[in-house]
Amino acid sequence: MSQSYTSAASAASGSSLSSPARVQWSTRMAFILAAVGSAVGLGNIWKFPYITGEHGGGAFVLVYLACILAIGIPVMMAEIALGRRGRHNPAQGIAALVREAGAHPFWKIIGIMALLSGFMILMFYTVVAGWAFAYAPKAATGSFVGEGGDAIGAMFGGMLADPVGLTIWMTVVLGLTMAIVVRGLQGGLEKAINLLMPGLLVLLLVMVGYAMGTGHFAEGVSFLFKADFSKMTGTAFLVALGHAFFTLSLASGAIMTYGSYLPDNVSIGKTTLLIAIMDTVVALAAGLAIFPLVFANGLEPGAGPGLIFVTLPIAFGQMPFGSAFGTLFFLLLAIAALTSAISLLEPTISWLTEKFQMTRIKACLLAGGLLWLGGLGVVTSLNVGAEWTLFGKTFFDMLDYLTSSWLMPLGGLLMAIFSGWILKKTVMQDELGMGSGMLYQLWSFTMRYVTPLAIIIVFLHALGIVNF
Ligand code: PFF
Repeated sequence: MSQSYTSAASAASGSSLSSPARVQWSTRMAFILAAVGSAVGLGNIWKFPYITGEHGGGAFVLVYLACILAIGIPVMMAEIALGRRGRHNPAQGIAALVREAGAHPFWKIIGIMALLSGFMILMFYTVVAGWAFAYAPKAATGSFVGEGGDAIGAMFGGMLADPVGLTIWMTVVLGLTMAIVVRGLQGGLEKAINLLMPGLLVLLLVMVGYAMGTGHFAEGVSFLFKADFSKMTGTAFLVALGHAFFTLSLASGAIMTYGSYLPDNVSIGKTTLLIAIMDTVVALAAGLAIFPLVFANGLEPGAGPGLIFVTLPIAFGQMPFGSAFGTLFFLLLAIAALTSAISLLEPTISWLTEKFQMTRIKACLLAGGLLWLGGLGVVTSLNVGAEWTLFGKTFFDMLDYLTSSWLMPLGGLLMAIFSGWILKKTVMQDELGMGSGMLYQLWSFTMRYVTPLAIIIVFLHALGIVNF
């Protein structure tokens, strides 16, 4: 039945640049779940809590929410619209839009950068996701019980120092991602996401419920929501903006590719709002699940990247049912990471199959092989290869830095200018389906002025040209 819906939808599509038989999401809900699955990942459960912890809590959360609202949501709308209009992988989809608009070929770079960024993120994403996969059995076997900070810190350090163990877990994550993606949009991605997303939600609720039982829930709430602006530095503002891009999966091909499978009759504005709200709710819920545990055990919220892998296991080791809930927590993190990894692989697979007419199996094997080698580079940069640096950065740091600080914001800037200034007004009006009413005007103003300005200020700051 979904198949007939698919072809009906593409036959009805008069405005997009589609090839008639291209597969689409079977329902609007399938797209929403997939996009939420992409957005909700390590960014929400690992990164958001620790950067909030590092930047003092409430005020940072407020700035982050403002970035999501004022920049993340409009950019996501543009990216989904560009994807659906192009009806191809990011590179060919954007190229088709550039041709349609008669624009300078330079703009094709948007699609190429998106592919590159997603591929580079996936190289380290599988490694960090592997930590979550490794920690679930550690928690289950009671490894944290009664251990102090030093022992648990050494456990984390020991894991990072072991290239073989890290490679095995990275391979597991990559293998699972490939096994899902190779089965195609409806047979692979949709099926897996339908199974994983409800699991993720249930686990998250269980964890928040557990945190409520600590007696320190109110402390967690006040840490997340009580704004103390004295802690807000310029850097914190930049971190919040960068994270808004990362957490919403923007400018890395994922959302554009998912948008390219979106049926024409689905409202992009409403859908985007829903995705952004769900992503934000999960990030805040993760904070509400984590901080009460941290405070209940007299630990520090500002531990940085180790918050989840050191601070939290110490808390689990002290608490009633800590092993069981620790296992559930790392399972939650693993599921969240897997649905994001899927969305990071799909753009490359769609590019290889559409541009080079490869079968999905061949495309997955080729991309998977290269990603595995990249993952190996990331693994070794944590231990035996930690000395091999470029501009003082290891391979892992370099991938993270290049994507989060450059490719994603630059991609966001170019997408905003392309959809706000270069494309004919009617193209985006058509796709967004908002006519020329107030909402469209608001979106258009944001794309033309607010987003580019905000991102340019970030770049000027990063280059040391402005300081605040
Ligand atoms: N949004 C994901 C997270 O928060 O973990 C990460 C991500 C997924 C970034 C897909 C970019 C992307 F294309």
